[in-house]
Amino acid sequence: MACPPVRVAVLISGTGSNLRALVEPADTTYQVALVLSNRPEAIGLAWAAEHGIPAVALPHAPYGKDRQAHEVALDETLRAHDIQVVALAGYMRVLTPWLVGRWSGRMLNIHPSLLPKYPGLDTHRRALDAGDVEAGCTVHLVSEGVDEGPILDQARVPVLDGDTPETLAARVLQAEHRLYPRALARFCAGL
Ligand code: GRF
Repeated sequence: MACPPVRVAVLISGTGSNLRALVEPADTTYQVALVLSNRPEAIGLAWAAEHGIPAVALPHAPYGKDRQAHEVALDETLRAHDIQVVALAGYMRVLTPWLVGRWSGRMLNIHPSLLPKYPGLDTHRRALDAGDVEAGCTVHLVSEGVDEGPILDQARVPVLDGDTPETLAARVLQAEHRLYPRALARFCAGL
């Protein structure tokens, strides 16, 4: 008998184009069972609700500086939805070691650079400034250090003459949309 799909929560803060790419495959090893955002206005949250996916806004502002209290609420929501794997997709909050520890080995992230190059923000400008001839994206397991966990898969794109951070970002984002569903499917198949 085939295994039931792994229940995945996708955490977003914004547009959610990777979320849409993750939802698209009809027959895969995972199911997007929850979309969670720290920003109630996130476009991806409304998109998920319109597509019948449970969508929860959990703003961080009411928790002030207490990051862990916000994460406790987040963790409770994940568990209430029987989530097995968390996929960060443009979730713009640095997580505390507490939440990372709770989901150790079961939390993935996509980052728009060829890690270990350019962790953090502004990756495309940094690649252009360095004169790189290729750029790309990385799916990795989340560990305590930002953008530092074990790499699961990468995709490469060329840097073209005349590229700006915006044109390069658009090319990398297309590669992200191909890479993330593939990497997540393979990861879930191995659980
Ligand atoms: C992507 O570039 C992803 O790599 C980064 O944040 C961006 C999210 O874009 N972590 P979207 O919301 O999926 O369109």
